[in-house]
Amino acid sequence: MQDIDYRMHRGLDRRLMLYLAGCDWIRQKQNVIITSPTGVGKSYIACALAHTACLKGFKVRYFRLQRMLEDVALARAEGRLLKLLRTLSRLSVLVVDDWGLKKLTSAQQDDLLEILDDRHQVSSTIATSQLPVERWHQAMEHPTLADAILDRLVHNAHRIQLTGDSMRKQIANVNVPENPEDSS
Ligand SMILES: Nc1ncnc2c1ncn2[C@@H]1O[C@H](COP(=O)(O)OP(=O)(O)OP(=O)(O)O)[C@@H](O)[C@H]1O
Ligand SMILES: [Mg+2]
Repeated sequence: MQDIDYRMHRGLDRRLMLYLAGCDWIRQKQNVIITSPTGVGKSYIACALAHTACLKGFKVRYFRLQRMLEDVALARAEGRLLKLLRTLSRLSVLVVDDWGLKKLTSAQQDDLLEILDDRHQVSSTIATSQLPVERWHQAMEHPTLADAILDRLVHNAHRIQLTGDSMRKQIANVNVPENPEDSS
């Protein structure tokens, strides 16, 4: 967390980050939602928060949303669903990266609700998305399940909305001479 360069992230409130670094939000079973266009640093900030929590002894796990739902479907097929759900429910912090990349089916929403219901007021979740929270509902097939899912996640969540250009563009901005002979 101390490595975060605040000049790199527009929309990142230093005071909020200082509070989150103290991990009281985890003790109080609060959530964090990070949104921004692609490449602005959502996963980076989510992992920085998760890493800080790890260092303070909290049990943490990271998933991309689609992968987590695939793991749940596989666990169900292999008869170890309850074991996986129990494992997930015991995590102090669950990072769920990349919400809203693909529309969730009703079956996937059922699974997600199961996971979030176990965590509601018991443990913390970090969710990230390219979509603003107001559009998450549209990224789910079943509206009533969507209400239930968002109700458990959004109301007690700290929101971080990052803005700006993709850092991948800046990182990849290597200097190539226009005429290779210029460099000799
Ligand atoms: N503060 C930072 N300092 C240095 N590098 C950073 C910082 N924030 C992000 N980066 C780098 O910028 C790149 C993009 O960041 P990141 O993957 O977190 O973006 P993202 O918002 O999650 O993108 P996407 O929506 O595509 O998943 C990564 O290579 C990451 O390591
Ligand atoms: Mg990301």
